[in-house]
Amino acid sequence: MKIAVLPGDGIGPEIVTQALRVLDVFRQEGLRIEIEEAPLGGAAYDQYGMPYPPFTQQVCQAADAILLGAVGGPQYDKLDRPMRPERGLLAIRRDLGLFANLRPALVFPELENASTLKAEVVRGLDIMIIREQIGDVYFGQPRGMRMNDSGEREAFNTMVYSESEIRRIAHFAFGVAATRSRKKLCSVDKANVLETTEFWREIFTDVSRDYPQVELSHMYIDNAAMQLVRNPRQFDVIATGNLFGDILSDEASMLTGSIGMLATASLSESKKGLYEPGHGSAPEIAGKNIANPLAAILSVAMMLRYSFDNLDAANRIEQAVRRVLAKGYRTADIFEPGSEKVSCSGMGDRVLEEL
Ligand code: IPM
Ligand code: MG
Repeated sequence: MKIAVLPGDGIGPEIVTQALRVLDVFRQEGLRIEIEEAPLGGAAYDQYGMPYPPFTQQVCQAADAILLGAVGGPQYDKLDRPMRPERGLLAIRRDLGLFANLRPALVFPELENASTLKAEVVRGLDIMIIREQIGDVYFGQPRGMRMNDSGEREAFNTMVYSESEIRRIAHFAFGVAATRSRKKLCSVDKANVLETTEFWREIFTDVSRDYPQVELSHMYIDNAAMQLVRNPRQFDVIATGNLFGDILSDEASMLTGSIGMLATASLSESKKGLYEPGHGSAPEIAGKNIANPLAAILSVAMMLRYSFDNLDAANRIEQAVRRVLAKGYRTADIFEPGSEKVSCSGMGDRVLEEL
């Protein structure tokens, strides 16, 4: 297993350190793992003057999977747009063809009181959001600024999806839904207004004929945003485009009250994937050894499951995390009275003990 490790910015390096300790347990048990580190985002800008330099590109292209910490920080906000850390993230997604972004939102039984919603609304919540990640208005051309006919400046972007792009993500989403116990797929669009997503709905309906075991429904994005806070457990798998997926996945992660716990995967048509925590780089707490490393650790579990088909190792990591939580250990972000507060590395220690 060749793994590219991109610690990134902010709390990225410290949480990745804990994730690598977990990976090392499996190396000691005999799993053959090769690791190569490279910078991305602000760290890459500092070292190479650009957020996704050729060195990082080479390391990632040669790897079977990529583990990313987080990118971004206030010191980079004033850079020209193409040099900003976020651009590094968009470039790597596009470069490696990481079209399918999986963002699970699940409520750990031990943390159901961490949600801002009532515990009985979120108890047992287990949603998988599948976001198409390399198309849509994020990458559509033309885009930019221009003078319009009345001599006024205007800015514009293009929302566009080709049939093959929609078919590819639809097959992926039905495939995931088919492996889950409820087998429900809700496709989210704005087909009442936007042609792009009317087409999206047509193709999803067409692809559904290949998956009779999956129950497909459609929902408009505005309603979906509302239903997610009204009755989130009605959802099993949600599939949507790049922009709507960006928004809905943040909303869904917050339902769980513990964004520090959620891992995400971005997959290409081969099994290569990029795995990263769902949270950001949290520059305000960087370097203090108080960040929650569990999302990074759970990203390793996702990597083992999706890129390396090692379900056994993935399950062991997830169970170890559950046991640590059940024993009452909490980092500051999920701390509640009566539990025992641990540091970032302290949480890593606990997970290693359970493993
Ligand atoms: C995300 C982020 C990125 C996105 C930003 C940082 C470019 O919000 O991964 O959800 O919009 O995709
Ligand atoms: Mg986002």
